[in-house]
Amino acid sequence: MRLIITGGAGFIGSHIAEKALAKGWSVAVIDNLCSGRKENVPAGAEFHEVDIRDKEAVDRVFAGFKPTAVTHQAAQASVAISVREPQMDASVNIAGSLNIMTACVDNKVQRLVFASTGGAIYGEVPEGVKAGIDFNPVPISPYACSKFAVEKYLECFRQEHGLNYTVLRYANVYGPRQDPHGEAGVVAIFCNRILAGEPIKVNAKREVGDEGCIRDYVYIENVAAANIAALEGKIPDPILNVGTGHETTTQQLAEILQQKLGKTIDVSPSEKRAGDIERSLLNADRLVELLGPVVGIDQGLEETGAWFSDRLAKQS
Ligand SMILES: NC(=O)c1ccc[n+]([C@@H]2O[C@H](COP(=O)([O-])OP(=O)(O)OC[C@H]3O[C@@H](n4cnc5c(N)ncnc54)[C@H](O)[C@@H]3O)[C@@H](O)[C@H]2O)c1
Repeated sequence: MRLIITGGAGFIGSHIAEKALAKGWSVAVIDNLCSGRKENVPAGAEFHEVDIRDKEAVDRVFAGFKPTAVTHQAAQASVAISVREPQMDASVNIAGSLNIMTACVDNKVQRLVFASTGGAIYGEVPEGVKAGIDFNPVPISPYACSKFAVEKYLECFRQEHGLNYTVLRYANVYGPRQDPHGEAGVVAIFCNRILAGEPIKVNAKREVGDEGCIRDYVYIENVAAANIAALEGKIPDPILNVGTGHETTTQQLAEILQQKLGKTIDVSPSEKRAGDIERSLLNADRLVELLGPVVGIDQGLEETGAWFSDRLAKQS
């Protein structure tokens, strides 16, 4: 397997790179380092500092490396930035993705995996419901629109050019190396603040003092494993949810993390943030059927907390 990972210097892409190298695959990373870090790219992977909006540069890397498979993780990944700068969001997430898709077709890549978002695409998920891939998507941010658009382009490219693709709709991904600015950034923010003994705020789901928004937090291990399985052709479905099917409130997250990190800090209620989805929860039955059980929040936060503690110890 010769694998190109776009966004391989970021949180999720770098974990995929580690798993791919451990399998003995040849790996090349394309990343412009706008949010990723060079040191995240594991030794053994080729690194190309390239912006996916630069079609010529993308084509050069593809022509030189000759990939058999691609996983496309590079994105403008912030909902807030997409609201402020929708053109920029679309230029990276739509036009940039088209550069990757075209390069895949031109180079006869056997399989393209795309990092989409269940958290943002489904929008508000009513009480008692888990959003399956048949749940009607209501993308309410430019970020969600751009991801949904690429899903549609992929189907066009399949019909038009025979491009073989898998869309993975991630829930809120957390784990070692995660960035505080990503979709599940709250885990990183809380870890850093609890370890520093600083107070944290729980933004309201509806009213100040409630338990906060509901999210489906999925551990990075399961997300990287789903990518590897898709690249190996082990996922027959064109679209797969990558979540856990378990809901966690922000308040619960704060409590579990304090317990895991062995520190008690001041947790205070705060206002609802404009635009926050109240409840996001994915149906993960098909993922479990295909790849086995997912890591529970308790174990995942234990490992994540240990990584943040360890990093702090190394810094001081
Ligand atoms: N983290 C989550 O909870 C989550 C949830 C749903 C979907 N996703 C998607 O998963 C993918 C990876 O997210 P992540 O959390 O690892 O984010 P990340 O910011 O850590 O990684 C994204 C990487 O893409 C690179 N990048 C951004 N714009 C680029 C460009 N124009 N050209 C080349 N490289 C560029 C960044 O430098 C970074 O290394 C993204 O597509 C994101 O939308 C993430």
